[in-house]
Amino acid sequence: MATSQKFGGNWTEEKLNIFTSYLDAYLIALQNQKFKKIYIDAFAGTGEIETSDGGQYLVGSAKRALASEKKFDHYYFIEADSQKAGELQDMINSEFPQMRRIVTIFCGDANDKLAEIISNVDWRFNRGLLFLDPYATQVNWTTLENVAQTKSIDVWYLFPFSALERMLPKNGKYDKWEDCIDRLLGDSGWREEFYKKDPQMTLFDLFPEPGQSDGERMVKDANPEHIKEYILARLGTIFPCVSKHARIFRNSRNSPMFLFCFAIASESPKAQGLALRMADHILKNK
Ligand SMILES: C[S@@+](CC[C@H](N)C(=O)[O-])C[C@H]1O[C@@H](n2cnc3c(N)ncnc32)[C@H](O)[C@@H]1O
Repeated sequence: MATSQKFGGNWTEEKLNIFTSYLDAYLIALQNQKFKKIYIDAFAGTGEIETSDGGQYLVGSAKRALASEKKFDHYYFIEADSQKAGELQDMINSEFPQMRRIVTIFCGDANDKLAEIISNVDWRFNRGLLFLDPYATQVNWTTLENVAQTKSIDVWYLFPFSALERMLPKNGKYDKWEDCIDRLLGDSGWREEFYKKDPQMTLFDLFPEPGQSDGERMVKDANPEHIKEYILARLGTIFPCVSKHARIFRNSRNSPMFLFCFAIASESPKAQGLALRMADHILKNK
């Protein structure tokens, strides 16, 4: 029997409903266009989900995408876990046998395989919808740059908000996480953005340890709203259009877990306007 994957809470369903509402609207909006339509699910899973907070069974993104009424011309699924990739293939064989010839499953790292897919598609004649749904900090900033450079992909990215917050301690001792945060956010500006010099003088500052200069201690100066705005601003440096209505998903203690972001790579004002209207309508109403 297939092992279902376990994660998420109520917001898992909210996330999937937002994403599939956009997917349906996208396929309707592009139905009479000359472009071929490509679906890329870079953290595909198995197509089935069991949520960790109560054993609720949900249909995952892969199955939802395949089951939509209107169809893409090709579906790419990437999954790092070979057992899950196998289960996804079994699910497709049994539930969508007629679609096998338009489905490609890659087993491997999302960053590597996405780069492969992007370089093999002629983006002058194709349009893509990409779902980035990682557990944590797996998506490299360079991957997002690569996606933006196609000028042809709409992307929904579940940004790992709590993972980032955990790497930004109040006392400014983020040293061991620096490389990971740089890789996630694509630059070093977060140090100045999220930290300031500690205004509180202590004995440590009056008698600094060898190698530590006066006034060197930093403290965190960023709340979740500030961090959210920074993430959206960073996305805005590579994508020409980013929704301002990104949704924060919170856990049962009301702590932010993920930020669900939408960005458009197209440079066409008409395509941007349409995609943004659809995404914002869904984000405001779902
Ligand atoms: C949150 S789940 C995705 C769920 C899926 N979107 C759904 O709705 O069913 C994340 C998935 O990414 C896979 N994964 C983890 N690291 C990965 C990586 N570096 N590249 C590709 N897949 C990865 C995990 O095995 C897991 O199945």
